Amino acid sequence: MKLKDTLALAATAMLMCYSSVGLAGKAKPAKVCLIAGWENPASVCVAHTKIIAATCFNCHGSNGKSSTAIPSLAGQDKEYFVTVMKEFRDNKRDATVMRKYALGYTDDEYEAMGEFFAKVK
Ligand code: HEC
Repeated sequence: MKLKDTLALAATAMLMCYSSVGLAGKAKPAKVCLIAGWENPASVCVAHTKIIAATCFNCHGSNGKSSTAIPSLAGQDKEYFVTVMKEFRDNKRDATVMRKYALGYTDDEYEAMGEFFAKVK
């Protein structure tokens, strides 16, 4: 089978998958994890959130508890967190490094991280 045919087959399979979900009228899950288009179980979402939040620990401290001049993320209000991340992304907030980090994640991931950090006591 030629590559073109293989790709066409894969695309058809994906379309069938999506349309069957659509026909069943299945609601979109509240949380969407990293692999776009895939519905991951909650356990995967939790693990994924910890992994992406951990990319912030180097500067913001373990679990977001900072001991330096860089602000703590631990216990931060989720709405505030998500707003700030979007401002960094959209270049509406001064940043030395945060624009780059904000660009690396989706809105759903901001939400997930915001929830994670808000829960840290
Ligand atoms: C290389 C170090 C570094 C890393 C890694 C990093 N940050 Fe930051 N963060 C900063 C600095 C420095 C600031 C102050 C703004 C600036 O200069 O960019 C900041 C500010 C913030 C703020 C604003 C806090 C406030 O109360 O004003 C948030 C929210 C934030 N970072 C979230 C994150 C998240 C989420 C991650 C991981 C995806 C992350 N940061 C990774 C260095 C870092």
